[in-house]
Amino acid sequence: MEITAIHEFTIKIIHEAGERIRQSLSEKLEIDTKANANDLVTNIDRETELFFIEQIHAYDPAFKILGEEGMGEPLESLDGVVWIIDPIDGTMNFIRQHRNFAISIGIYVDGIGKLGYIYDVMRNDLYYAIEGQGAYMNDRQLERLQPLPLHEAIIGINATWVTPNRYIEHNKMIDLVHHVRGTRSYGSATLEIASVVCGRMDAYMSMRLSPWDIAGGAVIANEVGAIVSNLGNEAINLEEQDTFIIANPKIHKTIIEQYVDLK
Ligand code: IPD
Ligand code: CA
Ligand code: CA
Repeated sequence: MEITAIHEFTIKIIHEAGERIRQSLSEKLEIDTKANANDLVTNIDRETELFFIEQIHAYDPAFKILGEEGMGEPLESLDGVVWIIDPIDGTMNFIRQHRNFAISIGIYVDGIGKLGYIYDVMRNDLYYAIEGQGAYMNDRQLERLQPLPLHEAIIGINATWVTPNRYIEHNKMIDLVHHVRGTRSYGSATLEIASVVCGRMDAYMSMRLSPWDIAGGAVIANEVGAIVSNLGNEAINLEEQDTFIIANPKIHKTIIEQYVDLK
């Protein structure tokens, strides 16, 4: 696989898709619900995914594509070159706020992350990494994360996990929130991951993320020394939904061992 050529091609189509999304904000969106009333999708999510599939298949028809909106072929395995795409991550923000949403792409070869991208569409900030070549935010190389104690950490966590829920013992999450320096919640998993790889936040966790929420970010994380895993401290799952944490290496194990009690 010609990594440099694919990287240039990917940046080009991400910027084109971003421009189409920005243009769409002046038109009326068609909004539907998926799994529940708060799980939203728009015509632009679908059109963006379709745009990527057409462009990628025109580049190389052998590339396999897993997209959130299911506009591609069903994926049977991670063998070969697999593109894992979230055309708009943070659809609720896209609809309601017209900001704080991203395009995310991870490119894997036989299950190994080779290229990762998170594009903050309204800020025009592209976070990306090529395996073994460091991570970047636009033209700036990102530094490897510096260790810090948990009580100085800012963690990304959705308020749901600090209230009674069916996934995790919420009282321990309350202890964690009390212990750390601060919490944030942006409503876009990929932008929260981007905040951790840049060192603006020190951890982000969720009880249910899908492969397209984490595939791009995981490649970038590896290049700055951020640890990604599920909340059982196992390798991330790119074939189905799972729990997820990305954290500064100094606090990853402590959060899991002292504060995570899965039901
Ligand atoms: C969602 C966002 C949200 C996270 C959800 C995701 P979507 O992605 O990343 O922050 O909490 O779990 O499903 O549906 O906007 O692509
Ligand atoms: Ca999405
Ligand atoms: Ca998503």
